[in-house]
This record gives sequence, C-alpha cells and structure tokens, in this order.
Amino acid sequence: MPKAAQQLDRVLRAELDSLTARSLYRHRRIVEGPQGAEIAANGRRLLNFSSNDYLGLAAHPALAEAARRGLDQYGTGSGAAHLVTGHTRAHHALEEELAEFVQRPQALLFPSGYLANLGIAGALVKRGDLVVEDRLNHASLLDAGLLSGARFARYAHTDTDALHRRLATAARCTLVMTDSVFSMDGDLAPLPALARECEQAQAVLMVDDAHGFGVLGAQGCGVLEHFGLGTDAVPVLMATLGKALGTCGAFVAGSEALIETLIQRARTYIYTTAPPAAWAEATRAALRLVRTESWRREKLHALIARFRAGAAALDLPLLDSRTAIQPLMIGDAASALTVSDALAERGILAVAIRPPTVPAGSARLRLTLTAAHSDAQVDQLLDALTHVMRSVSR
Ligand SMILES: Cc1ncc(COP(=O)(O)O)c(C=O)c1O
Repeated sequence: MPKAAQQLDRVLRAELDSLTARSLYRHRRIVEGPQGAEIAANGRRLLNFSSNDYLGLAAHPALAEAARRGLDQYGTGSGAAHLVTGHTRAHHALEEELAEFVQRPQALLFPSGYLANLGIAGALVKRGDLVVEDRLNHASLLDAGLLSGARFARYAHTDTDALHRRLATAARCTLVMTDSVFSMDGDLAPLPALARECEQAQAVLMVDDAHGFGVLGAQGCGVLEHFGLGTDAVPVLMATLGKALGTCGAFVAGSEALIETLIQRARTYIYTTAPPAAWAEATRAALRLVRTESWRREKLHALIARFRAGAAALDLPLLDSRTAIQPLMIGDAASALTVSDALAERGILAVAIRPPTVPAGSARLRLTLTAAHSDAQVDQLLDALTHVMRSVSR
C-alpha cells in the first residue's frame, strides 16, 4: 500500500478503536425481507420496536402495486434532476396531492429530509442573516443552520423565553427552525408559543414535521392540525415520507413564492437526480391510505396509551412523550448496549441510541410503536423490559 494510504488507515483505525473502547461503535444489522412488527435481522426473527414505519405502510401491498405500475409506465431510473428530464407526471401529481392535503398552495419533493432541510436554509438565508434552532433539533436541521452561512444560534430545548432572548439579536432575516416531534425524545415543540414569538420578532418559522406528518391530527395532516394552527403561523412546512408514509424522501410546502424560490435556489434540489417515478406512485398510494384509513392512527394511539400505562406500572424510566417515540432512558452508552442486547436475547429489537446522536450521559433505547403492532406484542415488550431492567439494576 502506498505510504499515504497506510498512514490514513492507521489514523482511522485508531479512531475506530477508540469508538469501540467507549461503546460508541455502530454496527449495521442486515435485514432480510420486509419491514413490519417482526423483521428478520442478522438471521434472527425479532419483534421490531425501532422503526419509524408508524402506520405500518412500508410493506403494504397497495404501495408495492403502485410502484409496479410506476415501473411499467416510467422504467426504473428518472434519468436526470427535476430541472432537466427527471420530473415526471407522477412526481408532479404527488406534489399537488401533498399540497392539497396540507392546505398550502404548492409543495416540492426532495430525495430525503436531510437534503430538504439543507436546501431550505441554503435558499432562504445567507451571510448577515440569523438561523435560530432548538438545541435538540435533528442533525439535518442543525447542519442546515451551520452550513447556511448565516449566524447560527441555539436555544434551550422547547424554551420559548430562551428563543425570545435569541430573537432580540438584530438580523436582516431570521429563520427559526424546529422539529415538531423531537426525533430522539418524542416530545412536541410548543408551536403556538414559538409561532407567537416569531410573529412578534418578524422571524420566519420553519417546522420539520418528520415524525408528525401522517400521525398527528385527526386527518393525519400533522402537527399544525394537532395544534389547530393556521398556515400563516408556519410559512415553511417540511415533512418526510420515509416514516409514517412508508416510502422515503421529503417535501416542503408553502406559498408559490417560497416553492419557486426553492426550485431556483435550493442546491440540494437542483443538483441531484430525481427519485424514480415508481417511488412517487408508491407515495401517492400511501397518501391515499393516510387519508382513508384513520383506524391506523387510532390504533397507534391506543398502543401508545397501553405501553405507557404498562411502563408506568413497572416504573420504567420513560421520557414524558405522548407520541410513537417512547425513549427509555439508560444513561451511559455501555449500559444502553447491554440492555439492547439483553432484549435481543428475548426476541426484541430495540436499538440503543448513543452520543453523538443524543447528549453524553443520556443514552437510551428509542422504542417506537407502529399501527402494525398488536396489543399482545406491546405486552411482550413490557414483559421483556420487566426482566431485563430488573437484571441491569441489580
Ligand atoms: C426530524 C427529522 N428531520 C429530518 C430527518 C431526515 O430525513 P431523511 O431520513 O428523509 O433524510 C429525520 C430522520 O431521518 C428526522 O427525524
């Protein structure tokens, strides 16, 4: 091996070994077959409490059937970026249907939520502007703020007074970005209060509804429906399609001027190949199910209540979350791995979430419930937790 390559590998190996020593090394598990309440991972069948497939749509036959029709009609690849030859009738119809669903004039698709967030900040702010974010925002929002070139400030988690103080700093344009449902904590941003602060300070509020879209609100329209907020309160709405909708990608919805600006200026929209049209067709099928099968949301919320009641009876250290994300707090990374492994021994997949995804000392199992689970499976999780938590606290 040439010397520079050997030296690089030595440095990397030392860093990787240090991650292992601190219980922070991450392994991928190889999944065989579809998502569901049970999955086959690393050659074992496990009850899955770690996916974001909140409505149980990721392996729904209607989505697969729509994708097959899309493949027949459009082929596999989109061939180019949306602004070249990649934007098909299927993509366009999905954008129109999403916009109508969230009651906004227009929507724009992105290949992922990460890219959507980078694209929004990159297009809306620049040097001399200010981006303000909740400290516990998703990494893609934090990166979006950091990379935007604007001044970047964070406020204490869900602390509206702290946001108020940040907004006192003068800037040409201020963009406030927040998760709606915090991805690792499961709690909700205090959106009505955030919207009031932004309105008073003439700041633009952007909400990432990755974990609310499809799940929150009677119709599944997401966090704004949950809080009964009008579209003016949140001029920039983003949501992902890889969670409750069971496919992947994301969209941004807002005014015509906002969406046309993103088309002209968002580099992560312009300079990337459009996702396949078959994906757009599958997502349209998912949106139809979100609209017509409200029993999925009702079932999910009943399972959340069942799990929380059982966990309270067992005195399990859960965070105060009413959403499908139910974090079980452990503390140090090594113990989180021990608990996760012990649950796997009992047939339960509950992935340990460690720093830097969460702050040091707050490693946890991010348990998630989906409409695909049954009451009996939730009870099985509670039963396994009873045994495992007792053995680690000994
Ligand atoms: C709040 C939030 N925003 C954005 C993303 C990124 O979305 P994507 O996975 O589509 O890149 C995620 C998770 O994946 C998320 O939890």
